[in-house]
Amino acid sequence: MKTIIISSRKGGAGKTTLSLNLSAHAAQQGKRRVALLDSDPQGSSLFWASLRDKDYPVVRKVGSRDISLDLAELEDEGYDFVFIDMPPTDKKWVKDALAHADLVLIPTKASPLDIHSASNTLEWAAEAGSKVTWVINGASVLSKTPDIVFDQLKATAAVCRTIVHERNDFVISVGLGKSVNEFSPHSKAAAEIDALWREVQRLANRG
Ligand SMILES: Nc1ncnc2c1ncn2[C@@H]1O[C@H](COP(=O)(O)OP(=O)(O)OP(=O)(O)O)[C@@H](O)[C@H]1O
Ligand SMILES: [Mg+2]
Repeated sequence: MKTIIISSRKGGAGKTTLSLNLSAHAAQQGKRRVALLDSDPQGSSLFWASLRDKDYPVVRKVGSRDISLDLAELEDEGYDFVFIDMPPTDKKWVKDALAHADLVLIPTKASPLDIHSASNTLEWAAEAGSKVTWVINGASVLSKTPDIVFDQLKATAAVCRTIVHERNDFVISVGLGKSVNEFSPHSKAAAEIDALWREVQRLANRG
């Protein structure tokens, strides 16, 4: 079982958006058992699940006990991939959970202030010994991500090659309880999630 944690203390970075889209897309691909764990008291992933007419991914609330207990249960139940949507807080629980990741994704806008706000998540993941990568989310479709911002990110950790742009499909699909790949399979948003998922699998499977 691979555990993929989507975390950043920066609010609104796209943790929930990427968690639900990646987990739904992973579950759609082949016969994989996929769980999405919502550890944020805001319950955004659970809200999305409540609007959904499909029984995958399995979405559960976590956060009241040590995450290792939840992960051990999911492993026994035969899950292949577990995604954890994290809260934008500095809680000890977050720090402890990061140690259980096969891969930590830190979504961020391509902006120095956003990157600065997220960088303690990067430090925690590194301290926990977990593999970590930035994902640029919410990039403008009108202008290229400035090289200087890309270089700033790259100097600290790996950066996913796939850039997720700001697109209406991400907003509309959530309110319908769908992923972008279900809502609009041939859209640019769907292609970005597909490319990101391929990258994430490669990174999570690598040693
Ligand atoms: N790529 C995108 N394109 C368009 N809108 C986006 C994109 N990513 C996120 N959003 C929107 O930005 C807002 C914040 O996204 P989201 O809730 O996923 O962030 P978050 O990191 O989970 O926030 P929080 O810290 O509050 O949990 C939401 O309204 C979401 O629909
Ligand atoms: Mg969220």
